[in-house]
Amino acid sequence: MVDEKEFLPARDSMSFDELYSRALSSLKEKNMYRILPPPLEMSNPVLDFSTNDYLNLSSHPALLQVAGKSLCMGSTGSRLLSGNRPIFERFEERIAQDKKCEAALIFCSGFQANCSALSTLCDKKVLKSQPILFFDKYAHSSLYQAAFLAQAHLVRFRHNDMQDLEKLLARYESDPRKKCIVTETVFGMDGDVAPLETLVSFAKKFEALLYLDEAHATGVFGYGLSKRVDLSSIPHVVMGTFSKALGAFGAYIATSSIIKEFLVNTCPGFIFSTALPPPLIAAAYQAWEMIPQLALEREMLMQHASYLRTRLQELGFNTGSSSTHIIPIILGSEMRTLSAKEKLAKENIIVSAIRPPSVPPGSSRLRIALTTKHTQEDIETLITAIKTL
Ligand SMILES: Cc1ncc(COP(=O)(O)O)c(C=O)c1O
Repeated sequence: MVDEKEFLPARDSMSFDELYSRALSSLKEKNMYRILPPPLEMSNPVLDFSTNDYLNLSSHPALLQVAGKSLCMGSTGSRLLSGNRPIFERFEERIAQDKKCEAALIFCSGFQANCSALSTLCDKKVLKSQPILFFDKYAHSSLYQAAFLAQAHLVRFRHNDMQDLEKLLARYESDPRKKCIVTETVFGMDGDVAPLETLVSFAKKFEALLYLDEAHATGVFGYGLSKRVDLSSIPHVVMGTFSKALGAFGAYIATSSIIKEFLVNTCPGFIFSTALPPPLIAAAYQAWEMIPQLALEREMLMQHASYLRTRLQELGFNTGSSSTHIIPIILGSEMRTLSAKEKLAKENIIVSAIRPPSVPPGSSRLRIALTTKHTQEDIETLITAIKTL
C-alpha cells in the first residue's frame, strides 16, 4: 500500500502573510516592486506623457454630456438577463459595419474580452483537442492569461518576426490540432505595428484563426489597422478597447456572426458579468462616432511622434522599433528607468516607467505616449528635460 502522505510536500510553517511578504521582498530586491503613483488631480498642471487618452477625449464635453443624460447608473445585470439596452445593439451594429465584420460583441473591458473570449474560443472540448496558439512574444498579459486558462499549447514567436512565425507554423503544419495566431496590431509597450498582410496570408496558408488586439490602434488609426486588410476569407477575431483613445471604458470584439453567437452562449466573461454602465456605453459610442472627424488631429499626432522620435534618436536614445504615437526610451536597467522617471517628475513631467514582466528583462524603459493634447512646445519641454538624464 502506498502511503499518500509520503508524497505530500512538508507542511510550510510560514503563514500566508509571511509567504506574500517574502514574495514582495524578492520584488524589491529586483527593483520590480510597484507602488501606486500619487493620485493625479485633474487640475494639476503637469505635463502628462503617461496617459492612454490618445485623442484627448476622456474629458470631452460631448462625452460628458451624453453620459450625463443616461437615466440610470448601472445596467443592473448581464446582457442575457436584465442588462441589455438598445444602445448596445445599435453600437454593435455600427462597430461591425465600421470594422467590415459580420458582427460585434461588447465586453466590460479589454482585459476581460481577451482573457475570456480567447480562452473560450480555445475550448479543447469544442475544438476536439488542445489548440496551438502562436503568440507574438510581446503580446499583452490578458492574452497570455487566456492561453493559460484554456491550457492551450503555447508557441511563442519572436516579436514581429514573420520568418520565425512561418518556421514555427511549418513545424506544426501536419499537426491536426486547430491553430490560432495571436498578436497586437499596435504594440502597447513598443509602439510598433504588426505586419498584417503577412499575418493574414499565414492564417490562410496554415488554416489558422487570426486574433488581433487593437487596444492601442483603435481611434488613433481610425477604426483600427485591421480594416486595412481583407479578413473575410479567414476566421478572425479583432478586439479593440474603448478605454484608451476613445476616452471611456469597455471593449468590443468584431468577428463573424457564428463566433459572436458562440461567445454569447459560452463565454463566461460575457454571460456572468454585469453589462457596462449605460453612461459609459453612451460615452464610448459618442467617441466612436467622432473618430472620422478627428482625421487632422490624428495626422498631427503622428507628425509630433515622428519629430520626437527623430530628436530622441539624435540624442542617442534607443526608441526601439516604434513607428506610432507610443515611443519607448529603452534604458535597460530597472534602476536607471526608475531614476529617469523620478528626475522627469521633479520637472513636472509624467512618463511611465515600464519594467519586467511588462517588458523582457534588460529592456526596461520610459514609455512616452503622445496625445492630441500635446503641443510642439510640450514636446520641446520634454526633449529639454530628457537631455539632462
Ligand atoms: C494590448 C492591450 N490589450 C488589452 C488591454 C486591456 O484593456 P483594458 O484596459 O480596456 O482592460 C490593454 C491595456 O493596457 C492593452 O495594452
